[in-house]
Amino acid sequence: MSARKIIIDTDPGQDDAVAILLALASPEDIDILGITCVAGNVPLALTSKNARIICELAGKIDVPVYAGCAHPLGRALVTAEHVHGKTGLNGPDLPDPKMPLQDGHAVDFIIETLRAQETGTVTLCPLGPLTNIATAFEKAPDIIARVGEIILMGGAYFEVGNITPAAEFNIYVDPQAADIVFKSGAPIVVMPLDVTHKVLVTKARNDAFRALNTPVGTAVAQMTDFFERFDKEKYGSDGAPLHDPCVTAYLIAPQLFSGRQINVEIETASELTMGMTVADWWGVTDRAPNALFIGDVDADGFFALLTERLARL
Ligand code: RIB
Ligand code: CA
Repeated sequence: MSARKIIIDTDPGQDDAVAILLALASPEDIDILGITCVAGNVPLALTSKNARIICELAGKIDVPVYAGCAHPLGRALVTAEHVHGKTGLNGPDLPDPKMPLQDGHAVDFIIETLRAQETGTVTLCPLGPLTNIATAFEKAPDIIARVGEIILMGGAYFEVGNITPAAEFNIYVDPQAADIVFKSGAPIVVMPLDVTHKVLVTKARNDAFRALNTPVGTAVAQMTDFFERFDKEKYGSDGAPLHDPCVTAYLIAPQLFSGRQINVEIETASELTMGMTVADWWGVTDRAPNALFIGDVDADGFFALLTERLARL
């Protein structure tokens, strides 16, 4: 089977970085047409810098990286330096990128790529707020039917919120964008906190990254050492949840994951629950299913795949 063509839309962020590295390490499974950056964990200037830092760390400087939207559709930007640090990639000391950003806006790259590629052959992999994706859909509605699949990290049901009591960060930052995407009709696979909180970088797993004894292995160990603080303190968990790499791992080994095809709608009116993913997990409404909502993962299988692939870089 040929490699799957994808666009990674991202707000690096240490977990985004690991997701990008896993994709870069898997050319037989994944053909990255481009990386589009969005404001989220840190402002756009940093997310678009960090994406290039990660490509250079992996020695993959031929991947085109684009800057996209600098703020959400209808709200002020909320960032997460309290989790990811001031640079968004705190932990390892990595050099500034030499590779340039591509000319042109990320939204136009998404539109042009979906129009140029055969319908149904491109998968969109959003790892941050959905601003770029929603803006592309609003600017060029014709591309929606051309999307093969959207596999995104965002939302929560049983795990409820990580940035507010009700909302997960990616959806909370741009709920209007999420509403557009979830109502678009494009096939969606959702990796919510319900599953990402089950892939924790325990000490043994982090030691396995470090034991690779490569610049990538060491950097990943240092990244997760840094960004685990927030979740350990808040949840008392055993280590950093690798949220975004669940998207990449699903592309490579979907059999590691399980979930339900359900209706998911986004709260965009109440400030109390703004950005909540109202997931009809128990089928108590007659709202039509619009997303495969992932609830479980083979965590050991996930980390075995991740560590084996990172060793290739
Ligand atoms: O809530 C977790 C998500 O928010 C992850 O994508 C993390 O990188 C941040 O963007
Ligand atoms: Ca992210």
